[in-house]
Amino acid sequence: MIRLQKYLANAGVASRRAAEKMIAEGRVSVNDEIIREMGVQIDEDYDVVKVDGEAVKNTEKKYYIMLNKPVGFVTTVSDDKGRPTVMDLVSDISARIYPVGRLDYDTEGLLLLTNDGDLTFKITHPKHDIAKTYVAEVTGNITMDTILQLRRGVMVDGVKTSPAEVEVVGATQYGTKVEITIHEGRNRQVRKMFEALGCIVKKLKRTKEAGLTLGHLPSGKWRKLSESEVNMLKKIEAAGTKGKNSSKPKVKAYSKTNSKRRTQKSGK
Ligand code: URA
Repeated sequence: MIRLQKYLANAGVASRRAAEKMIAEGRVSVNDEIIREMGVQIDEDYDVVKVDGEAVKNTEKKYYIMLNKPVGFVTTVSDDKGRPTVMDLVSDISARIYPVGRLDYDTEGLLLLTNDGDLTFKITHPKHDIAKTYVAEVTGNITMDTILQLRRGVMVDGVKTSPAEVEVVGATQYGTKVEITIHEGRNRQVRKMFEALGCIVKKLKRTKEAGLTLGHLPSGKWRKLSESEVNMLKKIEAAGTKGKNSSKPKVKAYSKTNSKRRTQKSGK
């Protein structure tokens, strides 16, 4: 038995969160019964799952890709304004891969793409505390006090950011180059953290995520992750949950309805 949203994610239909949205929108059926509730368990061997009326097959090969995203590309599979998307940079992959999390249009650097919904969920879920490192080129006066405030946390959209690792790593034509590692993924978080302290980020590049390093991958180019990199990512759950199984999403028992569905199916 497997939770419906996990099944959809494993099948590469969407990330687990996006799959939950599809379920809530009534786009998913199990044995031709539309399911809108979360936590429904299905039996992969018996139940027929359809999205928008089309049967889902859970046999897709998994792909894990690192892209060095340039500025000027939207992190999405398709853009309704017709702007170039990160998908325009990745070719020769015969599966429906999608970006893991996002980088702003004006941010460059390490972006993962995959069709492994389970892994996407692990990397993007806040409970896993995934470290993301950025190099920011900022204007304004970067004092020790600024660094200390960034480390401790600053107010962004009314909520204090969690502790960050922050170091000055050089000087640029704009001012100062700062390396900052955060463990959250709020919208435009790094830019807003600096803005909160009166500094403007002129250039932002993600250099590391979840233990992976961008290295010398040229801008606009991508590569498949190595087996050891993929294995490292798959271990995230054990390393990143702070030892709390209790923080795992609660699974709602649905066996009664499931058995009803199967009973109906077998005609008993
Ligand atoms: N923080 C930002 O401000 N932008 C990004 O793209 C990522 C993190």
